[in-house]
Amino acid sequence: MAEIEVLRDAAVLIDGNRIGWVGPRREAPVGAKHAAPLQVIEISGVVFPGFIDCHTHAVFGAPRLDDHERRALGVDYKAIAAAGGGILQSVRDVRSRSEAELETLTRARLAALLAHGATTIEVKSGYGLELEAELKQLRVIKRLGDALPVTLVPTFLGAHEVPPEYRINRAAYVQLVCEEMIPAVARQGLALCCDVFCEPGVFTVPETRAILTAAQRYGLAGKLHADELEGSGGAELAVELGALSADHLAGVSDAGVRALAASPTIAVLLPATMIFLGKRTQAPARRLIDAGAAVALATDYNPGTSPTVSLPLVMALGVSQLGMRHAEVVTAVTINAAAALGLATDRGQIAAGCVADLVVAGVEDWREVAYWMGADIVSAVWTAGSACPPLRALLS
Ligand code: NIG
Ligand code: FE
Repeated sequence: MAEIEVLRDAAVLIDGNRIGWVGPRREAPVGAKHAAPLQVIEISGVVFPGFIDCHTHAVFGAPRLDDHERRALGVDYKAIAAAGGGILQSVRDVRSRSEAELETLTRARLAALLAHGATTIEVKSGYGLELEAELKQLRVIKRLGDALPVTLVPTFLGAHEVPPEYRINRAAYVQLVCEEMIPAVARQGLALCCDVFCEPGVFTVPETRAILTAAQRYGLAGKLHADELEGSGGAELAVELGALSADHLAGVSDAGVRALAASPTIAVLLPATMIFLGKRTQAPARRLIDAGAAVALATDYNPGTSPTVSLPLVMALGVSQLGMRHAEVVTAVTINAAAALGLATDRGQIAAGCVADLVVAGVEDWREVAYWMGADIVSAVWTAGSACPPLRALLS
């Protein structure tokens, strides 16, 4: 993860929506035949592969300001959730809003993520917890993926929490997810992945196994919110199921670290979440990397635990909070994040054949992208070979 190639005085040739060539500027094959006439754009700064935000909950209604203050006064995330706040508050909110209203809210939020350099964004449902409200969230993701110059990867997260109406019969909710929701989502082609919040007090390891096994039968790739706050064997389960990723991992066990290190499952770490929750601990990034696990970083953008749209901020936290090297955090938001979405064959690198998603930071040294904490460091973005319009133009 610490081995990245840095070229100085380089050129990137974009051919259609793909990268045609990259190398020293003086060797650029400018005389060769291309699909369109050659247009030259000079850039001063550093060009990165488009960043990939592989874990967000970007479709929601209102921010959860009361939860934020309650935590400041010492009430913890799980106690707030048990009292009807937390995820269930966003569920009541999303259920009551129209699809058009959710689409307007989400459009602005995705445009902000893109303006901070996220050219591919995974977006989860999970604030519906009933078939129609989950489908509503997924349709919003589908339409915005078609409308905005960004690649969206939709994930079904019907098992984000047990809805209130099933609290006395959780087995019936797991059955509903497996037998009705997953088939409907898959039939309508509205998701590529399925995620479960596997955590003591939310979904157990056997319930998570049942849901992700059903999802795999319908062609949805597995992802887990695993060992977020407490360890419960989530990482081990992710590896056992061949999931694309195990996410969070602040409470991962030694056995979980070893299992991830020996597998292709990506360890997705979300340091902004732990900071925003006011926790003093973080996932053991150094132990994971040194053991040989592939680590990615993401925003976890959501109204409860991580209201940040900035992957560069998360990269800075990766260095300062997780003990990662600058090169490691770049790998973590590019090629490794692509792998967490099953897209590593043609995203996450500036290489011939890859999708031409590029991000420019107006800095001198590439390490500065993970240094100016909270700054607006991204100065230009290309997706699929085309320059992205400014943020305001994306909102209409
Ligand atoms: O990743 N842990 C579960 N899901 C989110 C939080 C969602 C919420 O609080 O609304 C997370 O932290
Ligand atoms: Fe999450």
